[in-house]
Amino acid sequence: MKLILLLGIFMVLLLACPSQGQNEVTELIFNITSSWNGRSTVPENEIIEVRFYAPEHTFGVRGFGIDIKAPFYDDPAPSGNPGRFDGLWDYEVVEVFILGNDDKYVELEFGPHGHYLVYQLEGYRNTTSTTQELHGYSTVINKTEKVWHARAFIAEDQLPEGDHSFNAYAIHGVGKDRVYMALYPNLDESYTSPDFHVLEPFEPIDLTGLITSGALDSVATNHWVQFSLLFLLACKIFA
Ligand SMILES: *[C@@H]1O[C@H](CO)[C@@H](O)[C@H](O)[C@H]1NC(C)=O
Ligand SMILES: *[C@@H]1O[C@H](CO)[C@@H](O)[C@H](O)[C@H]1NC(C)=O
Ligand SMILES: *[C@@H]1O[C@H](CO)[C@@H](O)[C@H](O)[C@H]1NC(C)=O
Repeated sequence: MKLILLLGIFMVLLLACPSQGQNEVTELIFNITSSWNGRSTVPENEIIEVRFYAPEHTFGVRGFGIDIKAPFYDDPAPSGNPGRFDGLWDYEVVEVFILGNDDKYVELEFGPHGHYLVYQLEGYRNTTSTTQELHGYSTVINKTEKVWHARAFIAEDQLPEGDHSFNAYAIHGVGKDRVYMALYPNLDESYTSPDFHVLEPFEPIDLTGLITSGALDSVATNHWVQFSLLFLLACKIFA
């Protein structure tokens, strides 16, 4: 009898418990559709999708994921091995710039052939670090579908501190046919060529809900702590 009562109370307590994670944002998706100056937009099959998400695997450090789906133009690939690659901006590339406090920003560049770069900057084109690596970067090119897909893990300590704003870009094509695209285009008409370090067009982004030490692990831990506390509480009531 006592056991049934105890279980009953326990169930009620469990139901009354505010369920965590229900309204948590686990991804933010943005489509790059515009030319760098906002004068033209691309057809649907040339849209580039950039998704920020709470990753399940976090390489033992806190961070978030970036996932890219982009058309594959099959431009000449960088000649170096996959991994960190300076000058990636001269190739087929998708870029994400994230700005924090004190004009500090991180420049992340991703290529379809497994190349990336992570630059830290402080003020316009004032680079303070060029040698950071990513914990995880993987890409798949599908030549039949003419698309590529990339997945990157960004550690929290690679982000500038403070409230964040950002922009995302894509470049492809060779020579005079090079095409520069922007999520938030630069509408200032005094610019006659693209400059991705112009920070004015950046828009706010809240990454806090996506930064995780391992989404599945932390949810499991939360539930376990909740369970134990409720059990102790129930025991105390009936003791
Ligand atoms: C992004 O573009 C794709 C088409 O490529 C579309 O299906 C999707 O709804 C768009 N997402 C957003 C957030 O605009
Ligand atoms: C460039 O970065 C350095 C830190 O490495 C900083 O001391 C300096 O003020 C920055 N310069 C500008 C023009 O922002
Ligand atoms: C590429 O896409 C096609 C069509 O969707 C699919 O059948 C094929 O398995 C894909 N190839 C790779 C390497 O993912």
